[in-house]
Amino acid sequence: MKVIDNIKDLKSYLSEYKKDNKKIGFVPTMGALHAGHLSLVKKCISENDICVVSIFVNPTQFNDKHDLETYPRTLEQDCKLLEQAGCAVAFAPSVEEMYPEPDTRQFDFGTVSSVMEGIRRPGHFNGVAQIVSKLFYAVEPDNAYFGEKDFQQIAVIRAMVKQLGIPVNIVDCPILREEDGLALSSRNVRLTAGQRQKAPVIARTLKESVNFAPEKSVQEVIDYVTSTINAVPEMRVEYYEIVDGNTLQSISQWSDTDYPVGCIAVYCGEVRLIDNIKYQPLSK
Ligand code: PAF
Repeated sequence: MKVIDNIKDLKSYLSEYKKDNKKIGFVPTMGALHAGHLSLVKKCISENDICVVSIFVNPTQFNDKHDLETYPRTLEQDCKLLEQAGCAVAFAPSVEEMYPEPDTRQFDFGTVSSVMEGIRRPGHFNGVAQIVSKLFYAVEPDNAYFGEKDFQQIAVIRAMVKQLGIPVNIVDCPILREEDGLALSSRNVRLTAGQRQKAPVIARTLKESVNFAPEKSVQEVIDYVTSTINAVPEMRVEYYEIVDGNTLQSISQWSDTDYPVGCIAVYCGEVRLIDNIKYQPLSK
């Protein structure tokens, strides 16, 4: 596997593939790779002629300085995992390489970026759009792979490529979970042993709520999920919203959408976890 740290070398390496009309697949990451990332890499390898993975902890998307400082950085281990997985190129640039000067671009993606995470993490999606657009310009991928755990992020990236006219196909990949249901996340390593035992209540409660949703109102489902998780010591639901999966607008009745998705953010101690689940639409 080739490890490249600057855009010029990356472009020159990929130009051979472009010249031969080969398909370039791309998985953007912030490193601290786990099985969830590797499932994206596997899919990327199987669907393209070459797989590029970026590893870059993007400062502009962190609205919390402490979160940026404590974000796990494990480049050496990440490269080993990528090599084993069969990835061809790891792109691991410095902050100076990606931001030779401050990125002052301010995006407006309307409601997909202003709800849920957009309210709680001001500037987060603007930072995501800044870095992902820069990475897309650097890699020029045919296909780019994103995990559905960050459900809203995918909607924002779809809006971004449309707005900027970037010719890339965005591929959503299902959430990977631990055996006890906890969605894989680089932040899970920051849970204490006690918190790690409690955290699966999030996925368990979401799953239960899908089973009884058909007999309950949207508000009853929201109340059930919120109160069940809040009843566990150290767990605090920041928000739970059931939205239309395309527009990300909250729904108040099941008949409001044919693509209902529940999106949640929960503090487990100091660690913020997100997850989501799809509900059955009302049959028409
Ligand atoms: O999902 C992530 O890990 C990041 O938001 C991304 C897409 C790599 C941009 O920094």
